[in-house]
Amino acid sequence: MRRSHPDIAEVRITEQEIAERVRTLGEEISRDYEGKDLVLVGILKGATLFLADLVRHIDIPLSFDFVAIGSYGADTRTSGVVRILKDLDEPVESRHVLVIEDVMDTGMTLRLSYLMDNLRSRRAASVRVCTLLDKPSRRKTDAAADYRGFVVDEEYVVGYGLDYGGRYRSLPYIGVLKPEIYGGG
Ligand code: IMP
Ligand code: MG
Repeated sequence: MRRSHPDIAEVRITEQEIAERVRTLGEEISRDYEGKDLVLVGILKGATLFLADLVRHIDIPLSFDFVAIGSYGADTRTSGVVRILKDLDEPVESRHVLVIEDVMDTGMTLRLSYLMDNLRSRRAASVRVCTLLDKPSRRKTDAAADYRGFVVDEEYVVGYGLDYGGRYRSLPYIGVLKPEIYGGG
């Protein structure tokens, strides 16, 4: 058994639980997009591990691409002004786009809805969202996921792509940090 990271207080979703859920999601997506021209669009950087595992369980032809989204000014939560920092490499016109997100939280950063609108304006055949984690209790908009890995409660989690200050993305499980880590910045 692999030791957990010394900064982790508790593991919330184990490596095995993630693997099983990702396999099931891959099977669902394979069924739903059978015969369609599918492109997965991962949002950097949080969705990278999820996307990498998910594509290995989708047994229909697909391609994938990445976008990075940022904001003007310091805080997306207040400014709500979003921009694309790294755009797609290939056009999505007439293709079925599945956006891969790490966690849907308040929905207030607007980055998801901005990206969805942007992709639709490029005449994608369809645009849907698959999020690893969903925190519906925190939602302040009517944004909803088409596919979701796990519903979690409000607490802040790290691992499997999710960071705190750029750290902990590489952990193979999802867990909560010890309280003193947040205090220390
Ligand atoms: P939203 O705009 O409030 O939905 O925020 C979503 C973004 O906030 C995610 O894509 C993450 O980058 C970040 N985020 C929200 N909750 C967590 C968490 O529990 N752990 C790590 N990042 C989070
Ligand atoms: Mg983050």
